[in-house]
Amino acid sequence: MRGVVLISGSGSNLQAIIDQADNIDLNISCVISNNADAYGLTRANNAGIPCHVIDHTQFDSREAFDQVVSETINRYNPDIIILAGFMRIFTEAFVQQYCGKMLNIHPSLLPKFQGLNTHQRVIDANEKEHGVSIHFVTAELDGGPVIAQSRVAVLPSDDASSLAKRVLIEEHKLFPKVIHWFTQGRLELNNGKAILDGKAL
Ligand code: GAR
Repeated sequence: MRGVVLISGSGSNLQAIIDQADNIDLNISCVISNNADAYGLTRANNAGIPCHVIDHTQFDSREAFDQVVSETINRYNPDIIILAGFMRIFTEAFVQQYCGKMLNIHPSLLPKFQGLNTHQRVIDANEKEHGVSIHFVTAELDGGPVIAQSRVAVLPSDDASSLAKRVLIEEHKLFPKVIHWFTQGRLELNNGKAILDGKAL
């Protein structure tokens, strides 16, 4: 399957997907970043993947930004759109266009800790457990049907950075695995539910 990956930063999840691409039947058609300084662009370049920078600060409205992102994505006619640390919120119209084809990774055990700064918020809330979720993207921010999660224990010695590192290790394993379910045709969004091998998750 052809995939487009959207990033905003370091791109360590992108790297995990690049490293596994052959094994998970994914051809990464291009990488799109809203941030020209994203290290993920270097990773994509090193892998010979075409890159596009679409700087959101250059647009007057969300709609105008989304329009250009959407035109860029559609040029590649992808089967799957992968949000791998993409830190912009899309308009509902944009999301509807890719309904059932767009996956996001979020660093928390959704529905807990939607939004930003999840690791610090988990520590502040004295949670014993934290982790990562992969979900289908719907119009609700971080609210689409969850497909899979991995958990890590929160240690008394943790700060946001040590916790983030352990969660990232799980992210790098889980995202390629879920993408592979999709490229194998085992995963779909049906009636607002994530379905794997014909069973609701
Ligand atoms: C990852 O932790 C990912 O879960 C998170 O951004 C980080 C990107 O890291 N995504 C979100 O917060 C989405 N709301 P990376 O650029 O090294 O893959």
